[in-house]
Amino acid sequence: MNVYLETYGCQMNEYDSQLIRSILISGGYRLASSQEEADVVLVNTCAIRENAHRKIYSRLDQFRPVKKAMKKAGRPFVVGVLGCMAQNLKEDLFAHPVVSLIAGPDNYRSLPKLIDRAAKSGDREMDAYLSEYETYDDIAPTRVTGVNAWVAIMRGCDNFCTFCVVPYTRGRERSRSMAGIVAEVESLAEGGCPQVTLLGQNVNSYKDGSAIFSDLIAGVADIPGIRRVRFTSPHPKDFPRPLLETIAGHPHICKHIHLPLQAGSSRILELMGRTYTIEEYLNLVDEIRACIPGVTLTTDVIVGFPTETEEEFGETVRVMRQVEFDNAYIFKYSERKGTIASRRYPDDIPPDVKTDRIVRLFDLQRAISLKRNQARIGETLSVLIEGDAERKPGYQMGKTDGHITTIFPSASHLPGSLVFVEITGATQGTLLGKVVHS
Ligand code: SAH
Ligand code: SF4
Ligand code: F3S
Repeated sequence: MNVYLETYGCQMNEYDSQLIRSILISGGYRLASSQEEADVVLVNTCAIRENAHRKIYSRLDQFRPVKKAMKKAGRPFVVGVLGCMAQNLKEDLFAHPVVSLIAGPDNYRSLPKLIDRAAKSGDREMDAYLSEYETYDDIAPTRVTGVNAWVAIMRGCDNFCTFCVVPYTRGRERSRSMAGIVAEVESLAEGGCPQVTLLGQNVNSYKDGSAIFSDLIAGVADIPGIRRVRFTSPHPKDFPRPLLETIAGHPHICKHIHLPLQAGSSRILELMGRTYTIEEYLNLVDEIRACIPGVTLTTDVIVGFPTETEEEFGETVRVMRQVEFDNAYIFKYSERKGTIASRRYPDDIPPDVKTDRIVRLFDLQRAISLKRNQARIGETLSVLIEGDAERKPGYQMGKTDGHITTIFPSASHLPGSLVFVEITGATQGTLLGKVVHS
């Protein structure tokens, strides 16, 4: 049978889809390159905000006519929902007429069996049990080789930020073995992949015996052939000084830290269960900048958390002005069923107020990103080439060490090579330059 897999959500889901591909191939399934040639469509889903849910439901609706046509032709057509929504909504999803299979993030090993049963019997099949142990450590992901590979180093999350659904969709936090991760990165390096991005909901709590995250990242960065190591995300509550020193001291570890802020008011941070005050966050930013000169800082922010006043939103504005992040991902608070916030705090900020706040932060951040990028004009930065620039014929693109997209007139450099680019221009999202040496 031919299986088509679609992926929504974060890099963790991208990584999981690569594991799923391996599991399916070992189970004797063929991977289809389009939905039209598939007997089975699997949708790996995200539950982080309501619009993620909406996207999936409208995608599922598109399968209704396909299912009807396949039924008429006497062929089985299985639509399966995987990932975070599958774990969280379980039976609710079976109410949709096309869905006949559900598998949560810890149940992908069962997929071959579930698909087989769903196709044969036409019955609904479900495995959605969270595990305290599953890390898929023994499964080598099936990847399309590019210049970057995602590598999950841990699964789940124990932080229970009050707004967040992830601890419920992905279960308890558990780390993979350092040996398994190193072996995976070694084989990536042998295959010519120059960059890996280590993934976890809270990488600072990585632990394997006595090895902690700074040991892991240094070990990975030492692997021959690996030119760049990135990671996401650390939690500001437990950012150890030795990790900063490791990042500062290792030429292969990118000087970019994604440090989710979420809010600029200590009262809101407390309601969010983030366990740091704004003073602690700002001290950490100072420490990071002192230890890693030139570091790129990016962040996540939520506007309109329950009870957030105009003054408290103003504190977020002030913090963003003060820190001047290179980039920020800004979201409107979206109440998630089952979370602590949904039980304790009514979603009382009107939609138009959330919209007003997000627009103001977008505008502010755009201006800051532009200013930060313009300050780079005249610098010469190392850029890892990814390929041709999408919307600019005759140009190639890549990322700086600080993860800023950079374009330059093409000299047919191979993807994966590192070149030095002198920056000659900037927009809020992109640097423009010319290659000075490779
Ligand atoms: N574990 C990561 C976050 C993963 S979710 C971390 O802590 O860094 C990515 C981002 O989505 C979060 O940082 C947060 O800003 C946003 N987010 C999570 N739940 C949300 C919700 N209920 N409403 C709006 N944004 C949310
Ligand atoms: Fe969600 Fe907080 Fe865990 Fe991040 S650290 S996944 S925001 S609970
Ligand atoms: Fe990722 Fe969305 Fe799940 S952000 S962890 S796929 S809820």
